[in-house]
Amino acid sequence: MEQLSGNEIRDLFINYFKEMDHMVEPSAPLVPIGDDSLLWINSGVAIMKKYFDGRVKPENPKIVNAQKSIRTNDIENVGFTARHHTFFEMLGNFSIGDYFKKEAIEYAWDFLTNKNWIGFDENLLYVTVHPEDEDAYGIWRETIGLAPERIIRIEGNFWDIGEGPCGPNSEIFYDRGDAYGSGTAAEEMYPGGENERYLEIWNLVFSEFNHNKDGSYTPLPKQNIDTGMGLERIASVMQDAPTNYDTDLFTPILKKIEALSGIKYGTDRKTDAAFKVISDHIRTVSFAVADGALPSNEGRGYVLRRLLRRAVRFSKDLKIKRAFMFELVDTVSSVMSGFYPNVADRKDFIKEVIKKEEERFLGTLDEGIRIYEGLKEKALEHGRIIKGEDAFRLYDTYGFPFELTREYAENDGLSIDEAGFKAEMDKQRERARNARKSGASMQVQSETLANIDSDSIFTGYSSKSEHAKLLHIINEDEAVSQAEAPGTVELIFDKTPFYAVSGGQVADKGIISGSGTELEVTEVYKAPNGQNVHVADLNTGIIKREQGYDLEVDRDERKFIVKNHTATHLLHQALRDTLGDHVTQAGSLVESSRLRFDFSHLDGLSSKELKKIEDTVNRSIFENLEVSISQMPMEEAREKGAMALFGEKYGSTVRVVDINAYSVELCGGIHVRNTSEIGLFKITSETGIGAGIRRIEAVTSKHAVRLYQEKEDRLSEIASLLKVKEDQTEKRIDALLDENKTLKEENRALKSEVQDEKLANIDDMIEEINGVKLIASVVSADNAKELRGTMDNIKSKAQDAIIALASVNDGKVSLVVTVPKVLTDRYKAGDIMQGMAAEVDGKGGGRPDMAQGGGTNPSNVTNALQFVKNHL
Ligand code: ALA
Repeated sequence: MEQLSGNEIRDLFINYFKEMDHMVEPSAPLVPIGDDSLLWINSGVAIMKKYFDGRVKPENPKIVNAQKSIRTNDIENVGFTARHHTFFEMLGNFSIGDYFKKEAIEYAWDFLTNKNWIGFDENLLYVTVHPEDEDAYGIWRETIGLAPERIIRIEGNFWDIGEGPCGPNSEIFYDRGDAYGSGTAAEEMYPGGENERYLEIWNLVFSEFNHNKDGSYTPLPKQNIDTGMGLERIASVMQDAPTNYDTDLFTPILKKIEALSGIKYGTDRKTDAAFKVISDHIRTVSFAVADGALPSNEGRGYVLRRLLRRAVRFSKDLKIKRAFMFELVDTVSSVMSGFYPNVADRKDFIKEVIKKEEERFLGTLDEGIRIYEGLKEKALEHGRIIKGEDAFRLYDTYGFPFELTREYAENDGLSIDEAGFKAEMDKQRERARNARKSGASMQVQSETLANIDSDSIFTGYSSKSEHAKLLHIINEDEAVSQAEAPGTVELIFDKTPFYAVSGGQVADKGIISGSGTELEVTEVYKAPNGQNVHVADLNTGIIKREQGYDLEVDRDERKFIVKNHTATHLLHQALRDTLGDHVTQAGSLVESSRLRFDFSHLDGLSSKELKKIEDTVNRSIFENLEVSISQMPMEEAREKGAMALFGEKYGSTVRVVDINAYSVELCGGIHVRNTSEIGLFKITSETGIGAGIRRIEAVTSKHAVRLYQEKEDRLSEIASLLKVKEDQTEKRIDALLDENKTLKEENRALKSEVQDEKLANIDDMIEEINGVKLIASVVSADNAKELRGTMDNIKSKAQDAIIALASVNDGKVSLVVTVPKVLTDRYKAGDIMQGMAAEVDGKGGGRPDMAQGGGTNPSNVTNALQFVKNHL
C-alpha cells in the first residue's frame, strides 16, 4: 500500500469514478441553498436531494463528489477522541435510478483492493449488512467471494434521516491489527463494535424506500445509491496514523499552533486536546466563512461563534492569551487550496472576520468575569448555588462558556444548578429548531413532471410571442388531455417565449389564447427535465392537448425586468469595485418595478460609499456599454474571469453575459443589448438582513425618474411652506432654527426672571400649618435636575421649612420634597412624596429628608400641593 496524501486520495477517488463514467459534482457550499431543512451541508448526499427526489434530472445519473461537510452534534467529543470532527470531507459515488447494489459493491471493492487504486490487502477488509438484506449478503458472498465470517449482519444497518429516501446499508471495515486492540472489551472486538481496531471506512446506502410524512415506508419508483467515505479516516488508515489528526490534512496546522504556542503536540493529553480542538474548529470556521456564513447570535452564525469561542477557551491550555486563530487561516487554505480555492481567494476577509470575533470574545471574557462576580455574591446569600437560568444567561447573552462558570464556581466553593441550566439550553434548542422551518428534508418525487421528457424550446431571449403546440396539461398533479374553465392548470408547450423564474429574475406574465379560450399566466417554473411549466388561470373555454395556442408575454413588464437584470450585474460589479472582492452575491430579485441584491459584507455602507456605487453604475449606463451574450465551454468562461453564482449548478456549456468586459457573469437571464437602455439607476435602501449580509434595493429607468420627481415635489412643497424659492430653502431653515434658538433662550431668561422675583420674596410664600412652616409651589424648571436646583435655592433661604415643589414639562410633572432634619421624626419626605405623586398618576420616593417623584397628569398639580397641606 502506497502512502498517499489526503489530497491524492481525494483525486484518486474522483478519478476512479470518472473512469467508471461518473460525472463529477463540484463540492457545494457548506451553507445549503434552497434547503431550509438543514443548517449545514452535512454529507455528500445532502446536495443530491434535488436528484434523489426527482426535482432535477442530472445530466448523468452516475455521480461522484468530494463534499465538505459540517456536523456539530458531537462537538463536545471533538478534541478528546481520535476521529471526531466538526468539519470533514465525504467522498461518495451516487446512482440516480441507474446502477444498484451489485455495481455499487463491485465498485467499492475494486477501488479498495485493486493495486491500481487503493490496493488494500483483501484479508484486512470486513463488511456489515442489514440482517434482512439477502441481496447484499449474496453479492458480498457470491460475486465478491467473501468468506461468511467476514460478512456481519447488523440490525442498525439502515440509513434513514427522516422524511425522504432511505434504505439498508452495508459498511466496509478495515482491520488495523492487534496494536489497536488493547483496552477494548472482548465482546466489542468485531467490525461494527466499539473499538479502535476495525475502522469503518465506507458506507454504501441502498436507497430503495421513501420514508413518508406519516412515518410509513413505500418503495421508491427509482432505486438510488448513496455512499460515503470520510477522507480523514481513509487518510489515517493509509498513512498508518494513530488518529485523523496525525494525517497530512492536519499536521501543517498542528505545526503552526506549535510555533504560535511554543508547546509541542503529542507530549500531554490536555494540551493535545487543545491542539485538536483548535485545528478542527479553524477548518470549520474558515470554510464556513469562505462559503458565506458569519459569526452571529443565531442559527449558523451562532455555531461559528461557539466554535471560535470554544477554540479560544482551549487556547488557554496552550498559554495563548491573544487573538491568534486568524493566523492559522493561511495554513488551512494552503493545505487544501488545490481542491478548495475559495478559502485562499477570500483569505483576507476570513482573517478579518475571525480576528474581530476573537478580539470581541476576549473582551467578553473580561465582562463575563465581572458578571460572574455578581452571581457569586448572589449565590453566597442563596445557599451557595448559582441558578441555572443565571448561568445560562451568562453563557447565552454574554457568551461566557459554561465550563468557565463551573471552573470559577468550583474555585469559590459554589455549585451550579446544572439541571436548570440544561433545561434552559433545551428551551433554546427548541427555539432554534422552530426557527428553522421544520419540513421535508427531501421532497417526494413528483412523478408526473419527472416522466415528461418531450422537448420544449425557450424562444424568449429573442421573441415575446409565439404560436405553439400544447404538449401537456397537468391538473392537480395528474396528466390530462383536456381541461375546462374555470380552474388553474399547468401547461407545457413545444416552444415558449415565457421566461421561467430563475437566477433571481421573476417569471414573465402574459396571456395564452386560442380556440375561444383565454388563460392568464401567473407563474412559470422549470420542470425536472428542463421544460418551462406555465401555471395559468383558465377563464373561458376548454383547452386540449396537441392544439395550437398564441403565447403572448406582457411586453411592458418584460421590458423593465430586463433593464433591472442588467442593472443588477452592474451593481454587483460596482460593489466589488467599491468595497472589495469579498463581496459575493447572496441572493437577488429582479422584478419590473425594482431590483434587490443581497451580498456578503461586514459593515453597513456609508452614504459616501452608496453614492460612489450609484455613480459607478450610472457611469456604466451613460457609457453605452454593449452587452454580448454567448454560449461557451465552462473552461473558457473561467478563463474570461466570469463570476459564477454561489452554489449554482452549471452544465459543461454555460451562458456568459459580458458587459463590455467590465462585468462578466454566468447567467441564464434576459438582458438589454446596451446599458444605455437602463436609463438611470437609483439606490432606494441599504440594510442588513443577517450577520454579514447586506441588502441593496434600487430602481431604474422610469421608476428612478419617478423617485426623483417625488423628491422634487417634496422639495417644492417645503419651499412653498417656507414661502421661499427652492434654492433658498436651506438658508430659510437655518434662519428659522436660529430664530427658534434665540426665542427659547429669551423665554428661559424671562421665566427665570419671574421666578427670581418670586423667590426674592420667599417670606410671602411661607404658610404655617400646625406650627410647621411650608412652602408648596409650582415653579418653572426644564427638568428634574433644575427643579432640585430651585429647591436648594429656596432651602438656603428658608432652612426650617418643609418645601414641596412641582414643575410641568411636555405633559409630565416633576415633584420634589424636602423636610428639615429636625422635623423628620414627625414628617417623612418619602411619605409626602408618595401621596403627592399619586395625585398626578405617578410614583415617587426617597429618604426621610428628601424625596423625588413624577407623574403624567399635569392637570392635578394643585391637588398634589394640596395633599401636602392636608398631610400637615
Ligand atoms: N449518506 C451516507 C452517510 O453519510 C453515505 O454515511
